[in-house]
Amino acid sequence: MDRNVRRLLNRVSLAFATIATVSLLHLYYHNSLSCAPSGGAAYGRHRQALTLTLSPFPKTSCDFAARDHITPEKRFAKLRSSRAWRRRVDAFAALFRPLGLLSNASHVLCVSAGAGHEVAALQESGVAEVTAVDLVDFPPLVSRSDPHNLPFFDSVFDLGFSAGLAGALFPTRFVTELERTVRRGGATVLAVDRCFPKEVDEIRALFRRSSLLEVRNVTFLGSEMTLIIMKNNGKPPS
Ligand SMILES: *[C@@H]1O[C@H](CO)[C@@H](O)[C@H](O)[C@H]1NC(C)=O
Ligand SMILES: *[C@@H]1O[C@H](CO)[C@@H](O)[C@H](O)[C@H]1NC(C)=O
Repeated sequence: MDRNVRRLLNRVSLAFATIATVSLLHLYYHNSLSCAPSGGAAYGRHRQALTLTLSPFPKTSCDFAARDHITPEKRFAKLRSSRAWRRRVDAFAALFRPLGLLSNASHVLCVSAGAGHEVAALQESGVAEVTAVDLVDFPPLVSRSDPHNLPFFDSVFDLGFSAGLAGALFPTRFVTELERTVRRGGATVLAVDRCFPKEVDEIRALFRRSSLLEVRNVTFLGSEMTLIIMKNNGKPPS
């Protein structure tokens, strides 16, 4: 099943969610190759590589390491004041609004959240309890965790959202983990590139204890997307 899904996901573009993460990882590895490793500095280099999302591409990440350090606060302030940030946050707000799945009291988990555009959209709409993770942290909205191994108890969120399935190394594990953290009666929403019904079936088959609530074709910042909304039925009888 993983292989089928992988083929499907390989076809779709990664534009929606993962470009930033992938280029950061590239930079990180490039950095590791081109700079002599020096003990505990790896984390610091990693953090510096992150700030590149806002900067012109340096020739090598070693050049960049020599520049002034940009604090996460400054980096976020700069990002948040950009027009691209506003557009994307508004697009997420428009994505969530019609779903009717959220209240101000909802606890929401966003996985593979990048810089946290969806977090900002949810917070602005009044949802106070939003938790967001990605492989690379992006303070203050997104903290670091492996989406394949989420550091949360079972059934603690009302809604799980991700637009990052296409970038997942192990789609089955990715979905099972997200689903695990959602309470019975809650929902998991995956945003993927536009899907035919057969492809939707392949994705929904990754879920173990949820049934399909709705499939919705939407346009997100000019891209044709499909939202797959699964309702959590709780633990399967063991
Ligand atoms: C949160 O509450 C405000 C004010 O009562 C309301 O306007 C808004 O629609 C609510 N947001 C959600 C997501 O329910
Ligand atoms: C979404 O779009 C795809 C591709 O055009 C189509 O096959 C599918 O039936 C649409 N799904 C819904 C729920 O409209």
